[in-house]
This record gives sequence, C-alpha cells and structure tokens, in this order.
Amino acid sequence: MRILVVGSGGREHALCWAIAASPLCESLFCAPGNAGVAQEAQCVEDLQADDIDGILAFAEREAIDLVVIGPEAPLVAGLADRLRAAGVRVLGPSAAAARLEGSKGFAKDLCAKYDIPTAAYGRFTDADAAKAYIRERGAPIVVKADGLAAGKGVTVAESVEQALAAVDEAMVAESFGAAGAEVVVEEFMAGEELSFFALVDGVSALPLASAQDHKAAYDGDRGPNTGGMGAYSPAPVCTPDLERRIVEEILTPTVKAMAAEGAPFNGVLFIGLMVTDQGPKVVEYNVRFGDPECQVLMMRLKSDLLPALTAAADGVLSAADLRWYEDETALSVVMAAEGYPGAYQKNTVIRGLEPAEEDPDVTIFHAGTARDADGVLRAIGGRVLNVTARGSSVAEAQAAAYRAVDRIDWPESFYRRDIGWRALARARGEG
Ligand code: AMP
Ligand code: GLY
Repeated sequence: MRILVVGSGGREHALCWAIAASPLCESLFCAPGNAGVAQEAQCVEDLQADDIDGILAFAEREAIDLVVIGPEAPLVAGLADRLRAAGVRVLGPSAAAARLEGSKGFAKDLCAKYDIPTAAYGRFTDADAAKAYIRERGAPIVVKADGLAAGKGVTVAESVEQALAAVDEAMVAESFGAAGAEVVVEEFMAGEELSFFALVDGVSALPLASAQDHKAAYDGDRGPNTGGMGAYSPAPVCTPDLERRIVEEILTPTVKAMAAEGAPFNGVLFIGLMVTDQGPKVVEYNVRFGDPECQVLMMRLKSDLLPALTAAADGVLSAADLRWYEDETALSVVMAAEGYPGAYQKNTVIRGLEPAEEDPDVTIFHAGTARDADGVLRAIGGRVLNVTARGSSVAEAQAAAYRAVDRIDWPESFYRRDIGWRALARARGEG
C-alpha cells in the first residue's frame, strides 16, 4: 500500500512509525512531516496540512491507497470530504462529523438529544444572556468558545467575575476570532480526567486504549495551559468496569447518534471524560488522535496498525482486531523550547538523541524539528521532542523516559519532571 499521513507533529511521527512497521506498507509519505518523520517516511515538505487542493492532487498523482489525517483543522475544513468525493480512501471524519470537535455547542446538543452523560449547559450568541446565566448558576462554572481555539478557548472559572470576564474575552474582545462568537457555559464537573480513544467506521467502534495527559506547563500542574506536556497509557483510573461504562454509555451512543444525525463518524474518536461520582461524563470530543496521547498508544500497540486503519476507512471495522502490551505502561515526556507556550527561541541545536535512544524501550518522536544540510538537528517549534518509553509499570516507564531525557543535550529546553505523578500516586495506594 501507498500511504499518506497528513500533519507535522509528534502524533504524525508516531503514526508514521507504526505504519512504516507494517509489512503491507510499500511507500509512506508525510505532508509536511518533520526531521523525525523523515526517518520513517518521505516528507513532502512543501505540502501543508491545510492545503486541501494540494493534498488531493498529491494523492491522485501518487496513487495513494490510504490517507490518514492527523490534525483537526483540515478535518473541520472538509479535507476528508474532498478526498472521499474524488474516490481516495481516507481515514478521517467528514466536516459534518468533525463538528463534534469544531463546535462545542453541536457536541453538547448531541449529548442532550441522545442522553449521553455530560455537564448541564447553555449556548449563547449574546453576551448579556450568557452573563445572566452565569449569575443565575454561580461559580465554579466553565466558559468555552464554541469553535476551534487551539486549546485556549476554555476558562474554568472559580468566581462569577472570572466567568463574566471570559465571556467578554470571547464575545467582546473577540480574542478567539469567529470561534468565540458563540459560547457554551457549563456546569463544573469535579473528578479525575481521562482520555479514551476508539477507531470508528461510521457504524461500529473498536475501542483502543485510555490515556492521561498533562496540560499545565510546569510541575505540580502549575503554569499556563499547553497542548500537552506529557502523557501515559493506560490510565490506571480506567478500570475494566469503567471502560465498559464508557463504551456502553458514551462511545456506542455517540457513534449511533452521529449516524442518526446523518453525519456518520469515520476516523479516530478521542473522548475527553471526567470520572465523576455519578460515573463517566463527556468533557469534550476530539475527532483525531491526541498529541502526545497518540505517541503512548502507538508504543503500547502490538498489532499491525495498518489493517485496522484500512478496515475503519472501508467501513468493515467489525472484522478488525488489535492487540496491546496489556501489562505495560507507555509514558511520554514532552521537551519544549524555553518560553513555550509563550514566545520562544527557534533554531537552537539539539544533540545527543542517539545515546538517548540506545535503550530498546525508548523511542523519541519529533514534534518540531528540522535538520540542516550538514545533519545538525534544530528545534523549530514550541513542543519539540516526545521522549517515550515503555515499562512494566508506570514507575519503570517514567524512569526510562527520564534517563533518556537526561542524555539529550539541548540547553534551551524545558520539560516537566513529574509526568505520570497521578498514576504513581495511585500505584502507591494514594489515589
Ligand atoms: P476542553 O477543551 O473542553 O477539553 O476543556 C479544556 C479543559 O478544561 C479540560 O481538559 C478540563 O480540564 C477543563 N474542563 C472543561 N470542561 C470542564 C467542566 N465542565 N468541568 C470541569 N473542568 C472542565
Ligand atoms: N493532548 C490533547 C490534545 O491533543 O488535544
């Protein structure tokens, strides 16, 4: 098979790493990719993930058998529809199905209509009406820009004043542009967060695995919100009983609801959940793999990924089966450029990846790297490396990941030293 992966982050490196290992993979391309992806695939450096016409033209010219789309923005913009309409096989939801992530209001209304557990909410296009609702409900309360806001559109407000300010930020200052013209105001849910992933073919779903992310920039979950500073899989909070409830009460009803709405979901469904006293509830849907959650999932996958992706794209997922390293944990530490998620320096030099990767249980996925003509590796993004390790426990995976991190020579970087802390506390019986 000739495969094209769309995207340029650590998620796409991990997908390319898994797909390249398949005996069915004859040629693998990634648009635009990065220096790490180039170890697994031919990078089409001048083809950006949002260039819908360019991607379609490339897929036709190169006789691509399967396109796998990593990031959400091209999905929301209709890349999968364009490819499908042209007869190109693709794994990824239509724009109509990608509304699950592209519009928080759409996702909330779907949950309400089909009795899928989530927080109580209101949708508002008028700032005064949103504020009246906030005053009536009181704090804590959560304010969300409706559209895609690169992870910055959500305010978990501890006071009414903070929630009112969040409404002004979205709807008056228009800090998130059109994405904030509508807001969702919702009940605060207390509990532990969990991510759950499934492959979906429009009709049936194949549960993949659970993971937990670390969104805050600094140790102890302090500092600004980021795209994710580290992750591990499985999440110990996800017991077999909880997984059964997630599948029965949330995953299956969501897949059925999307089909009933005339927007069947085909692709990777990433459900953000809160494990509350009443059970699992939806925090948000994403319509693609998480980053860095994908990296830890791929490290735990034993089976060939490609037949399952193809089966999902073809609508015959019920015939697919995936095996995992069930008793092992994978953990990934994100190394970022100093200053991220604010302004950071670009083009700093990274050394020492080869010794760091000597441990067979360690794989380093690249998120934002480029290589000079003379082979020097440079950081060109905010999140730059995902140092990922597998071990027989969270503690072992964590130790192996940080041993590798310590071997990397990149003075202008920073990373969290406590990835996995919640799972470790649980393992020590403090959870
Ligand atoms: P979202 O982009 O919707 O996942 O929101 C970003 C983060 O805000 C989530 O990962 C949660 O940590 C938090 N959050 C969102 N909605 C709620 C809620 N209703 N209750 C508590 N925390 C929330
Ligand atoms: N790591 C969270 C996300 O990919 O949205």
